[in-house]
Amino acid sequence: MEAVVKVGGSLSEEPKVLIKFCAKLSQLAKNYGLVVVPGGGRFADVVRDSDEQFNLSSSVSHRMAILGMDQFGMLLAQITPNSCATYLLGDAKHLSQTEAVPIFLPSRLLFKENPLKNSWEVTSDSIAAYVAGMLQASKLVLVTDVDGVFTEDPARKDAVLIEQLSPEELLKFNKRTSVDRFLAKLLLEAPVDCYVVNGKYPERVEAVLAGQQTTCTLISAKK
Ligand SMILES: Nc1ncnc2c1ncn2[C@@H]1O[C@H](COP(=O)(O)OP(=O)(O)OP(=O)(O)O)[C@@H](O)[C@H]1O
Ligand SMILES: [Mg+2]
Repeated sequence: MEAVVKVGGSLSEEPKVLIKFCAKLSQLAKNYGLVVVPGGGRFADVVRDSDEQFNLSSSVSHRMAILGMDQFGMLLAQITPNSCATYLLGDAKHLSQTEAVPIFLPSRLLFKENPLKNSWEVTSDSIAAYVAGMLQASKLVLVTDVDGVFTEDPARKDAVLIEQLSPEELLKFNKRTSVDRFLAKLLLEAPVDCYVVNGKYPERVEAVLAGQQTTCTLISAKK
């Protein structure tokens, strides 16, 4: 398995951007073994709102948010040429060896195993890292709507892109970033390089897969 590619729901804010990215994904799957993990996007935001309104239990919020990932995955499958959505990790792995784009819907696996902390610290980034571990992927690519992890909210003028950091450094970060709070803990134990990349520039994802230098953040694995 070459790479698990998590497609952030943030990219669906502009439909044209997501459609273009998914077309690129389809092309890349012809040359690279990829498994796509969907983000949560608006589907998870609805769950966040419901949690605030109804004070849901952490396990119910967690499960509902995972179902949100399934929903976004089904959407991705509709707009990604030559894709196939599946609840089975084995099928996803098998499809990654073909030219098709496997889109892994995580609810079945996660409801059965419940391997991750049931908290809003665990979102699709951590779930993608868990899937990358299961598949022994060599790269985890988190595709989002900003250039990577910044020192501050990238809306601020003084924000600077961090080109590389270790999971330990990410763990010490006491601010919000473009990745979830639990990811660093999983990356501490996983031998996988994690790249945070802007999907508005699909060629950057291609560069990451090709092992070329590009604008992104690398959260480097322990060697
Ligand atoms: N320090 C930071 N570095 C990078 N992005 C940040 C930072 N602080 C806040 N952000 C925000 O994080 C957002 C990306 O994370 P977000 O979780 O919203 O999207 P996503 O992970 O791509 O989508 P989803 O969570 O739906 O899968 C960016 O749009 C950016 O504005
Ligand atoms: Mg996110």
